[in-house]
Amino acid sequence: MLVASNRGPLSYAVDEHGGLTARRGGGGMISALEAHEEPVTWVCAALTDGDRAAVRASRDGLLRNPASETHPAAQTVRMLEIDRVIFDRAYNAVANRTLWFIAHLLFDTPHTPSFGHSWNGDWAAYEHYCATFAAALAADAAPDGKVMIQDYHLVLAPRLLRELRPELRISHFTHTPWASPDYFRLLPDPVAVAVLRGMLGADRLGFHCRRWADAFLSCCDAVLSADVTGDEVTFEGRTTTVAVHALGVDGQGLRKRAQAVDVTSRRDILREQVDGRRLLLRIDRTELSKNIVRGLDAYRELLRSHPELRGEVTHLVFAYPSRHDLPEYREYTAAVQRMAYDISQEFGRPGWEPVRLEVSDDFPRSLAAYELADVLVVNPVRDGMNLVAKEGPVLSRNDLSLVLSREAGAVAELGADSFVVNPYDVTQTSEALWEALEQPAAERNARCRRLADAATALPPAQWFSEQLAAL
Ligand code: G6P
Repeated sequence: MLVASNRGPLSYAVDEHGGLTARRGGGGMISALEAHEEPVTWVCAALTDGDRAAVRASRDGLLRNPASETHPAAQTVRMLEIDRVIFDRAYNAVANRTLWFIAHLLFDTPHTPSFGHSWNGDWAAYEHYCATFAAALAADAAPDGKVMIQDYHLVLAPRLLRELRPELRISHFTHTPWASPDYFRLLPDPVAVAVLRGMLGADRLGFHCRRWADAFLSCCDAVLSADVTGDEVTFEGRTTTVAVHALGVDGQGLRKRAQAVDVTSRRDILREQVDGRRLLLRIDRTELSKNIVRGLDAYRELLRSHPELRGEVTHLVFAYPSRHDLPEYREYTAAVQRMAYDISQEFGRPGWEPVRLEVSDDFPRSLAAYELADVLVVNPVRDGMNLVAKEGPVLSRNDLSLVLSREAGAVAELGADSFVVNPYDVTQTSEALWEALEQPAAERNARCRRLADAATALPPAQWFSEQLAAL
């Protein structure tokens, strides 16, 4: 069995003596596969200089994942060395700046996107990148093997692999939202067709919620005039099944991880910082789709409209760096910092920091913060699923209240027990923060328990094995 994704389960760094050290990545896919009992080869891109050095130092290009050594079937990783210019154009210009923007409705349409000569070269690089993956998968797959391809970086790979190895069982999973036909058609027509055709090379296509699956089916109808019957799409003589698999979190694993000393020590530090005040928390990559600036604006409105809260609450904002090669992300990071600064200027006083912005990525500190939070703010403009919304209630010791965007995939499972908001409506979000803070204890407790149950309904290992079985 093969898994393919842009970012793999581990990454190498070169240490000060020139040696290579491997570091395990995070995320649902990784924990799912670590629990999996059969041999897996994970094909990914070499992203760092250390990754490239590790590939060159290996004999056959295959790396053993040290994190999987305790498991019966050790996991093997094949990292593909892709020309740096091609990788940059495929990953940054097409995957992150075009397909991600389409999926999350991020364009400022009077100005972007604009598809001209230079972008056509980017698209050619993306085709090359997907073809490199398809060739590696075709070479590694056993006869009648199964290949599970992940995400928007690799939408052309199912079709390209099908052409090389028609007998394989191929799936593709989209971890992002899917745009409705009107927005999807911002793409140049041949590109819109290629994206859908590429994915329909798979036998099964997975999405995190019904809404994204339906949007994909509508695009197949509107763009390809494919035969869409229920959850099946027939196009050019092949039928592909579309399915919903709502990724959840591993409650037991998460609670166990939170008992480690690196988490408990951070909990003590945070508790001291919070100093008995009520804690509003958000944890995100500094990502355009996460809507951090409007979230902070809503907190500012809360402090303006409820002066009695000043000095009584604190907002902890963990916003760690992401995709800094893109100018939009650098500008957004600055906007988040400006907004946090403005709030501090308006309300801060000796002994009280209204907002505390932390930009370093510290996983154990995030777990500790979940335990202490009273309100968790998850207000993305759009999100495929959002696992922060699921991790929080599982670890909460304070029966946290969840303020959740109606545009996050997680709302399908968590909406009934959350304060659901339109992510563009700052006033509504501010009112939801107030209601979440004011929620009576008994109701908080009941809701938080139900949220934790819903969040753990489909843990990663089961999410993965169900897809594998269906394939
Ligand atoms: C999203 C995508 C993943 C991606 C992650 C981090 O969750 O669905 O495929 O790996 O963001 O983004 P990055 O660009 O750092 O890999």
